[in-house]
Amino acid sequence: MCGIFGYIGKKYDSAKIVFNGLKTLEYRGYDSWGIAAVAKKTSSSNQATIIIKKKAGKIGDANVSDLPRSTISLGHTRWATHGGVTDINAHPHLDCTGTLAIIHNGIIENYDEIKRELVDFGHRFISETDTEVAIHLIEETLKKLQKRYSATKTHDELLTEAVRKSFNRFIGSNAIIVVSAKSEVFLAAKNGSPLVVGKGDGENFLASDAHALLPYTRTVHFMEDETLVKVAKDSISLYALSSTRAKIPHFTHLSWKETVTRKGNYPHFMLKEIVEQKDIIGRIAIENNPKIATVSQAIIKSYGTYIVGCGTAAYAGLAATYIFSKIAKRHINFAVGSEFSYLLDFLSPKSLVIALSQSGETIDVLDAVKKAKEKGAKLIAMVNVMGSTLYRMADEVLLLGAGTETAVVSTKAFTAKLAYLILLASKIAGYEDEGRNALKKAALVLRRIFEPDSTRNIRRLVDTIYRKEHLYVIGRGISYPLALETALKIKEASYIHAEGFAAGELKHGVIALIEKGTPCIAYLANDETYGANLAGAMEMKARGGYIIGVSYKPHEVFDYYIPVDDVGIATSIPAVTIGQLLGYYLAVKRGLDPDKPRNLAKSVTVK
Ligand code: G6P
Repeated sequence: MCGIFGYIGKKYDSAKIVFNGLKTLEYRGYDSWGIAAVAKKTSSSNQATIIIKKKAGKIGDANVSDLPRSTISLGHTRWATHGGVTDINAHPHLDCTGTLAIIHNGIIENYDEIKRELVDFGHRFISETDTEVAIHLIEETLKKLQKRYSATKTHDELLTEAVRKSFNRFIGSNAIIVVSAKSEVFLAAKNGSPLVVGKGDGENFLASDAHALLPYTRTVHFMEDETLVKVAKDSISLYALSSTRAKIPHFTHLSWKETVTRKGNYPHFMLKEIVEQKDIIGRIAIENNPKIATVSQAIIKSYGTYIVGCGTAAYAGLAATYIFSKIAKRHINFAVGSEFSYLLDFLSPKSLVIALSQSGETIDVLDAVKKAKEKGAKLIAMVNVMGSTLYRMADEVLLLGAGTETAVVSTKAFTAKLAYLILLASKIAGYEDEGRNALKKAALVLRRIFEPDSTRNIRRLVDTIYRKEHLYVIGRGISYPLALETALKIKEASYIHAEGFAAGELKHGVIALIEKGTPCIAYLANDETYGANLAGAMEMKARGGYIIGVSYKPHEVFDYYIPVDDVGIATSIPAVTIGQLLGYYLAVKRGLDPDKPRNLAKSVTVK
């Protein structure tokens, strides 16, 4: 995981530029941050030095004015994997001499074996990270190369070779940027983890995500796996990692809008993004998106359609199985991203894989779809972030257009996926207009849910249950994925242990957990599942459960009632926003920051 950003050029406030880049990349991890600036030679020292500032915790409004004026800086925002969340484990990391610095996104799976060798060579490690091992290996390799070739090769040439040789030893998905105090270049290499080179005028950039480059340049090269790049202020040289062969970078002009996301009058992004859903669903209902026809045709033609996603996107995938069964009378297969790789041996060139992802960077999804593509399957991405890795890998893209999602807890991307899935299934069934009408009605219901009376009702409930340690959510049919998603929102944002279940499974174990006063949310939709779901609510009530009914009509079994008007299968959209609002208000009531829950990151780019 983690975000990396580098600047090399003519501006002396490079640390500030990197700082701003890191703020854009913070969604990739906010356990710690750090910046290294290469300070020029001075009258007292004839060698440049690397000055580092790094700290555990969110970058926030940190002050970097104490870093030296410098035209070369790189920085990192971390989601901890190897080593705790401490200042020392924060990147950048230095070698023994303090003249080489590295930032890294990924996991070096064989770091311990390399570390043992380096310890034998006398290297000292001060952090617990795999990253520090990488910079010491580069140092060691450089030392050996210098002994043999220093008379015939320049420092830059030897450093390039040291980075290439070292990186080739790493097992896992990784991207690194290395800088040396002795030269004015970045060496960056990538395999698996994303890296983008930005080309400016007398200045160049490197970043994990092209969006972070938009304030500075729109000319970018998305690095392919197994490549290495040498970036100076006025040159960019690309190489294959497998040889010293030069490659030609393919620069693309990005026409994307630079989106500056602000909270406006909302106290948190999560609440803002929840409320935005009314407009997003309203827009999807009426827009004339040609991709609906293309994607529905691909589904019809395929010999098996497989949906894959992680976290919230996974629950949208599970919902798809119900949506396609009910509306299009079609079987859609579904698997979570991290498992799909082990389930795709039967894929063929006639198979269709639809990957759902807000960020388009989730490694478990990317790894799975890479394997599916190797089997010849066609890949369609339903993704929110334009230009993301998934976006670029896919044969066809259906952009969610939900706007930037900043809160870690995903909300509007989920309902945008449901809306498009409903449209696709309706199109296949030949009832596209009905699908659109249902979405228009869902948008109206959403408006009502966000009115003060309705949110007050949810906050009153929160006042009653916010001290509880456990909470259960049940649903059947399409309400089952909603129960899972509601439990996910509540645990992510408020840290209350919440579990979602298929209501029918209650009596097979979960019911043992219900005690007097345990909050139990029951989604009771106006469909064939109503009676059986109600029976589940009654069974929980009989064991002392405090029943919260989310339904189109009240019922005496409910201890608390939250109304959601019925709009057929599209009721799933307003219904899940109740779960989102509960997660949000529970977090706020418990004094937590719902935008940045502990231990989570918006984009999970490591396994
Ligand atoms: C992380 C986020 C979740 C998100 C999941 C999948 O776990 O915290 O909110 O649902 O990744 O992300 P994606 O970008 O692929 O939808």
